[in-house]
Order: sequence, then structure tokens, then C-alpha cells
Amino acid sequence: MTEIKGLYRLSPEQRRAVLKGNFPDVFIESDTQLTETTADAMIENYFQNYSLPMGIAPNFQINGQLYHIPMVIEEPSVVAAASNGAKRVGNIITTSQPRELIGQIILKEVIDPEQATAVIEKKEHYLLDLAKSFSINMVKRGGGPTRIWTKTFESYFTVYLGFNPCDAMGANAINHVLEALSEEIEQLVNGVALMRILSNYQPESLVTAKVKIPILSLANNQADSQLLAQNIVAASEYAHLDVYRATTHNKGIMNGIDAVLMATGNDWRAVSAGVHAYASHTGDYQSLTDWKIEEDYLVGKIKLPLAVATVGGTLSVHPQAKQSLALLGNPDAQQLSEIIAAVGLAQNFAALRALVSEGIQKGHMSLHARQLAIQAGANEAEAPRLIELLKRQEKTISISVATELLAKMRQNR
Ligand code: MEV
Repeated sequence: MTEIKGLYRLSPEQRRAVLKGNFPDVFIESDTQLTETTADAMIENYFQNYSLPMGIAPNFQINGQLYHIPMVIEEPSVVAAASNGAKRVGNIITTSQPRELIGQIILKEVIDPEQATAVIEKKEHYLLDLAKSFSINMVKRGGGPTRIWTKTFESYFTVYLGFNPCDAMGANAINHVLEALSEEIEQLVNGVALMRILSNYQPESLVTAKVKIPILSLANNQADSQLLAQNIVAASEYAHLDVYRATTHNKGIMNGIDAVLMATGNDWRAVSAGVHAYASHTGDYQSLTDWKIEEDYLVGKIKLPLAVATVGGTLSVHPQAKQSLALLGNPDAQQLSEIIAAVGLAQNFAALRALVSEGIQKGHMSLHARQLAIQAGANEAEAPRLIELLKRQEKTISISVATELLAKMRQNR
């Protein structure tokens, strides 16, 4: 695999050719549809597929290794911003903790919570062995139930189960154990189970990504570079102070994260719920990233929980999810979580850089012009000139402006 340059100038067919050259073992076609049989087995009342564009953000350096990252997204500027961010941030260093799912058996009518706590503590080993017996396959793979603890909330008593899902999402596996275990728990604590379900809050399974960007590389001269670095730091500080900004700041991060989650067939709702809950772990909803100046460097860091999977569920049946994982070198779940954190950080850098300098509209307008040119019916030879003309317009550009300009271009030929 090598660095890929100038992808944006190529046609989709030429891009596929470049990717095939880089990934000779990966099956890359123009339209790898879900088959009717597969899709029908995935959800209830299936009647047709819904398509979204899939793009590639090339040339991420993560822990010294090169990645071309598949992204599925409808928002025009996201892949461009990720690619731009990757180019500017340089090598991204990541770390992660092994993933732990947490499940809950929530009980009501527990008359003596103190006594219930003592019983569960005393029976912990027995209960863990019982839980493992309901999860034989996961235990064989080196995972399964890991620990049990309790907490009382007003009149509710909750038993928590830690669970190692290996590289799977693990939702069905842990929910099965919780349901199987709950009768025994009800008897031990003398209560009635209200529900048994995994939690999407995983504040201990954190992933981090860090970059160290030479300040001088940020702009064309020292003064502009320094100002840009200071403004990125201020933007980061502000996103810790004001929930209105923090939400948008984190939405920008999730632009990149969700796009890779979609491309790799992961449950983006689960990850989003966990990430946004973690953004409030201090009590206030805050930014997931931090930017600081350290000597001659702008240093950025992201820290967040990313419960992702690389085997099982959708991943084993969805052709493009498999293709995406292959493009990423078939990472395990922990490695994938680190790649995704790196994308979130680069995405955030690109957004902040644009926001505190030229604003984001300029970049958005170029992409908008490209979309309008295609919608207006410009062919490959006409599109570059029409895009240029659209970008030069002083009035707001629309499909009718694009159609009019294209007609004039054709008349003058
Ligand atoms: C737009 O989808 C994302 C941004 O609003 C993110 C941000 O404001 O940081 C540009």
C-alpha cells in the first residue's frame, strides 16, 4: 500500500482502479449491493435497499502505519475535511483499554438492599461461574463474564455484570447471560427483576488519539501560524465552557466517527449514545477533544469510549462492511476503535482550523458547486469549467444558476 495523491481529481472509476492497485486482494466494485435474501434476513418488513455514498479518506498515519479510510456519509464536506485533517496532523498516536461491556439486572421490591449487597458480594464467584456457563462460546474464545457488582438507586437495586465480548458487538451474548442469570439473582436478593439489558455507557473502556503538529506548519508564515494555533486552543477551551458550542464541536467529531462506523457495519447509535454520555462525565456536557500549545507544537488529544466490533452480526453478512474492514487491514475491535478515534481527532482539527480562519462556507461552497454541476448535467469535460464559474458567482448558487451557466457554456462553444 502506498500514499494516494489527487483522488479528488479522478472519476469514481479511476478511484476504484487506484484502490484496486493498492488493495489487490480486496473485491472493489461500483455497486456492491446487499442481496435481497441477505437484507430480508436482516430486518423485519424489508422491501428495498437505501444507498449512501461511500468515499475514501486517504493517507492517515496512525502509529506510523498508513491507512486509507472508508467512510459512508451523505454530508458533502466530511470526507474532504477528514482527508485534509489527516494531511495536516501527521502521525496520530493512539492507545486503548480492552473493551468491557456492562450489563444490568435492575430489580424492584428489594426490601433490604444492604443485605442484598452482602449476599451478591459473598456469592460473586458462584454467580460468575453460573454466568460463564450461559456464555460457553464466548468463554472458549477467551471472553465472557468478568465481574459482578451492585448499586442501589432509591427503591431500585441493580446488579452489574462486566463482560468481555472479544471482537464482537456482544449485545446478544450479554443480554442472553443477563436474562439467564436473573432468576437466581431474584431469589438471592429477594426482589423482582424489572429489566435485564446491556448498558451503552462504557466510561472505563476508553480510546485516546494524540497529535503533535509543528506550529510553523499551520500557515504560510510564523505570525499566521501562531495566531491559528492560539485560536484553535481558544476554540477548544470554549467548547469546554458552553454546551451550545460543545454539542456542535462534538457533532463535527462524530461526522468522521459515524462515517467509519457506518462503513464498517457497526452500531453507530450505540456508539453515539455512549460517546455523548461520556461527554457529560464531569457533570457538564463538554468537548471530547483538547488542544494545547506545548513549546513549538500544537498538541491535540481525543478521549472517548468506542464500543465497536469486527466480527459477528451485520459484519459477517454485509459485503461492504467486510470490504471496509479489509481496506483497514482487518483490524481487531481494539485496533478499529483506535483508527476511529484518530479519524475523530483529524476531523475535529480540520473543522476548528477552518472555523477560526476562513470559515467553513468556502470549502462547503466548492463541494456544493461540484454537486450542482453534476445535477445540471455537466459531462466530465464540462464539469471543471462549470464548477469554476459557479465558484466565481457573487449571487447564491442554485441548480437554476448552474443550468443557466451550462447552457451559456454550450452556446459559446
Ligand atoms: C458540520 O457538520 C460540523 C461542524 O459544525 C463542526 C464544528 O463546528 O466543529 C463544522
